Amino acid sequence: MELISRMMDGSVSYGEGHRLEPVFSRAAAREDQSRFQAVPIFEGCTRKQLRNVASIARIVDAPAGSVLTRAGDPGDEFFLILDGSVRVEVASGGYVSLRPGAFFGEMSLLDGGPRSATAVTDTPARLLVIDRANFSRLQREVPELTQTLLVTLSQRVRQIEARERDARRASALE
Ligand code: CMP
Repeated sequence: MELISRMMDGSVSYGEGHRLEPVFSRAAAREDQSRFQAVPIFEGCTRKQLRNVASIARIVDAPAGSVLTRAGDPGDEFFLILDGSVRVEVASGGYVSLRPGAFFGEMSLLDGGPRSATAVTDTPARLLVIDRANFSRLQREVPELTQTLLVTLSQRVRQIEARERDARRASALE
């Protein structure tokens, strides 16, 4: 509902030059099913599990500048980037660019807390979107998914630590 409500309240911008229609379709997800296998988070999935993913996911085409999560808001959707790139504005004031195959929006679904960061499409993007109930179902049906989520969360914590360490070193040298 998050993205839909942003479209309704006008905070998703539709640039004239690259207007894309939101697809929001499970049929499109089924069409894209063959592509899911190439996505690292789904590479351990069986065909049956991939069919499950396709049946519960929606595909969304979002124009550049679409706000997909907003820091502090409640969140109930998980996003996987199929095409395009998404900029996550992190707490330190910097940003992280996420590319096809990367996912975001998992934190609010895992701990029930508000969105930790604002995520905005940098380019027109195609996203696979899974809502909270289906995300929990998928975690139960595909236990490897939790493992991938943990690895990615660990990598993100390490990146944050490294950035903070670099910033402390830089300010000590000034
Ligand atoms: P969530 O908090 O649900 O919504 C915002 C998302 O941005 C968050 O889940 C993560 O998926 C993602 N995110 C937050 N911080 C970082 C980071 N430092 N690096 C990459 N992604 C992040």
